[in-house]
Amino acid sequence: MAHATDPPDPRPAHGGGPGPAPRTPDDTVAGAVRSRVGLRVNGVHHDLDLDHRVTLLDALREQLDLTGAKKGCDHGQCGACTVLVDGRRVNSCLLLTVALDGCEITTVEGLAAPEGALHPLQRAFIEHDAFQCGYCTPGQLCSAVGALREAAAGHPSHVTAATALAAAGPAVLSAEEIRERLSGNLCRCGAYPAIVRAVAEAGADAAATATGAEVTA
Ligand code: FES
Ligand code: FES
Repeated sequence: MAHATDPPDPRPAHGGGPGPAPRTPDDTVAGAVRSRVGLRVNGVHHDLDLDHRVTLLDALREQLDLTGAKKGCDHGQCGACTVLVDGRRVNSCLLLTVALDGCEITTVEGLAAPEGALHPLQRAFIEHDAFQCGYCTPGQLCSAVGALREAAAGHPSHVTAATALAAAGPAVLSAEEIRERLSGNLCRCGAYPAIVRAVAEAGADAAATATGAEVTA
């Protein structure tokens, strides 16, 4: 039997006990080093006072209340936390916020136009029913925005040899190309076929808008 004077039991609680509370950016830890960091998030500037160990994902969710980016694995393996940093897609669970001073961040909350018009990828996901539980969807959307930009800029992939790329990059991505370029984003519901169709349609529309070419997806 435990007594009031016993030291705390260091073992994890069994039977679904609460366990230790997650650390937030506001937690004060003895000896923690903190800095002020300036970020522009979805077009709005924020000055944050942060422990150097706080990841971008935790800063977005816990300090800025932007809970669109999800914490799936917290280890860079699922892509649920994907956001754009200076236009490039990243796993926000792997980045320390203190290293991003002055960066431009776009989360899923910032994809729609300010007046509320959905991003073409968001519209395509709805039209193609490209989600079930939706937990992976914010990461899939941000990753797809980055993937389409990379493809348009001519970045090669394991599917398209660099020598096969036209100067302006592939105008319309094949399903195989989309699967490869989005392979870092996992979906436990298995909505992959609809996700591929949605990204193909949005990518084809963007390519047609840019080149005047016929939409083929
Ligand atoms: S939560 Fe970041 S990759 Fe899984
Ligand atoms: S829609 Fe449920 S995890 Fe992808």
